[in-house]
Amino acid sequence: MTVTVSAAGLWEAEQIADVAAVTFPLACPPGSSRESIESFIDDVLSHSRFGDYLSDPTRTILAAREDDSIVGYAMLIHGDPVDPAISSVLAHSPTMELSKMYVMPGHHGSGVSAELMRAASACAVDAGCAGMWLGVNQYNSRAQRFYAKHGFAVVGTKTFTVGAETHDDFVMERAL
Ligand SMILES: CC(C)(COP(=O)(O)OP(=O)(O)OC[C@H]1O[C@@H](n2cnc3c(N)ncnc32)[C@H](O)[C@@H]1OP(=O)(O)O)[C@@H](O)C(=O)NCCC(=O)NCCS
Repeated sequence: MTVTVSAAGLWEAEQIADVAAVTFPLACPPGSSRESIESFIDDVLSHSRFGDYLSDPTRTILAAREDDSIVGYAMLIHGDPVDPAISSVLAHSPTMELSKMYVMPGHHGSGVSAELMRAASACAVDAGCAGMWLGVNQYNSRAQRFYAKHGFAVVGTKTFTVGAETHDDFVMERAL
């Protein structure tokens, strides 16, 4: 089955939020509470929040589509990081954050994520960026391996709030 990647439209907010609700728990560390994950999904990954993201000119959401289904998505945030602690560890500016990269479990290892990464990199290059950065949970070995395969290296750490919990992330960066 052919998967194509392109920018998502506002009308796809619900479909992307549904993919987010399935895939976000896969990125959480062992021992995360169901309440914290559900609270994050309600607050940050709801249909209405994706409507906001898709209407925000500083964000780009890329959708991987197979027939009429969205099987993965990535969200890019344009502009240098607002957190000076993150800016201080990055080597490349201007930069773009790869804020989310999520593929449905049945499509892991199939090349969908590589297509999303290719489109994300092209978007950052088109915007004149010299680098890209992201945060990834320190227990998420599969994602770290995926990002390393695509040229990212760990440059620092940060925290990430999920409901009532504080998770430890690596900050990874790559040059473009
Ligand atoms: C992260 C994600 C987008 C990567 O896509 P993918 O299709 O799984 O990536 P790939 O299969 O190309 O690469 C994963 C690599 O990790 C390896 N891997 C798999 N399980 C692993 C594990 N438990 N520990 C370490 N490496 C692992 C794979 O073998 C592969 O490496 P290889 O190509 O050298 O064999 C996808 O797994 C995903 O959506 N995961 C759930 C959500 C998530 O964690 N998102 C990232 C949030 S920061």
